Amino acid sequence: MLLIVTVSLILFIIALFLSKRLSPKYVKIDGKHVVITGGSSGIGKSLAIQAAQLGANVSILARDKVKLETAKTEIQGYLQSGRKVHCESCDLSGDFENVRTVIQEAESRLGPVFMLVNSAGSSVSRSFVDLKASDFKNMMEMNYYSAINATKAAIPSMVEQQCGRIVFLSSQAGQIGLFGFSAYSGAKFALRGMAEALQMEMTPHNIRVTVSFPPDTDTPGFHSELKSGKPKETIMISETAGLFKAEDVAKTILSDSLKGKFLSYVGLDGWMLATMTSGMSAATSALEVVTQFFLLGLLRVIGLFYLSSFDRIVLQCKKERDAEKPKSS
Ligand SMILES: NC(=O)c1ccc[n+]([C@@H]2O[C@H](COP(=O)([O-])OP(=O)(O)OC[C@H]3O[C@@H](n4cnc5c(N)ncnc54)[C@H](OP(=O)(O)O)[C@@H]3O)[C@@H](O)[C@H]2O)c1
Repeated sequence: MLLIVTVSLILFIIALFLSKRLSPKYVKIDGKHVVITGGSSGIGKSLAIQAAQLGANVSILARDKVKLETAKTEIQGYLQSGRKVHCESCDLSGDFENVRTVIQEAESRLGPVFMLVNSAGSSVSRSFVDLKASDFKNMMEMNYYSAINATKAAIPSMVEQQCGRIVFLSSQAGQIGLFGFSAYSGAKFALRGMAEALQMEMTPHNIRVTVSFPPDTDTPGFHSELKSGKPKETIMISETAGLFKAEDVAKTILSDSLKGKFLSYVGLDGWMLATMTSGMSAATSALEVVTQFFLLGLLRVIGLFYLSSFDRIVLQCKKERDAEKPKSS
């Protein structure tokens, strides 16, 4: 009885303390300028379509001009009356001045950036031994520096407006390091650390930062990763979490960002990982904090069962490989 009263009291105090503090305002993007890097494909394109459906003016940035034009035509079909879509070709991981010029050009056409979604990125999945040293650098350039460049270019006008939204697409591989992702995980973990620091700097400016941790999602990027020699171990481990649709992942990301949530995740595994790795990240939902308070210990134990099943997969694959090796006489 005493335990129940104590727990209820703690819950009440937490909820009271948090409900005012942890309720970022929901914002609308109707008539606002939303810039989406990697908006020509996959999750980024789905985000662009959904932003258009919500009445935003949309800019998409990527390298391949043909893919950009095709996506632009597709997005045009979802625009609300009087709204526009603009596309610019740019290597976001390249020279910062180029990225700044491209964002300034987009702003001169569609107004100051209100929301920036950093979806541009790519992955490589191979064992550490099989990865080239340059793969590690590429992953940082494609996933981390591309987001830094775009964010540095877009942030001045957000600060001037004293409002906005910034989204970084990390990955579940940015929450847990798995076999085959030593290069990719490094870059996606880095994004989260940077985003935590940035959100602390941006909150006084009424700019909210969201880090999304998508699960495996059915996109061209996912399929090219599969074809590029993804280890059997990585495939078998990832399969346990299933494959999600880009539209569903985009819907969650957009909604979480508009609500001002810091952590954005999809599915049961996504919720579990976000809870377990909440650490000292910004608290932007009272419900999340209460669940973290009660479930962290239990989830850690459940996580150990997951890890031991992953370790079994890795061991089994090694045995199979060893058995396939020609026997030395
Ligand atoms: N799909 C998944 O399973 C999954 C899971 C977790 C996280 N994610 C993350 O979610 C994001 C989107 O993934 P996706 O699967 O939708 O990818 P995708 O289909 O391969 O699309 C990637 C987009 O980024 C652009 N891009 C890549 N590098 C670029 C660069 N250096 N400069 C400018 N644009 C660049 C690509 O266009 P160009 O090639 O023409 O430049 C394309 O528009 C990525 O950050 C990815 O790491 C994906």
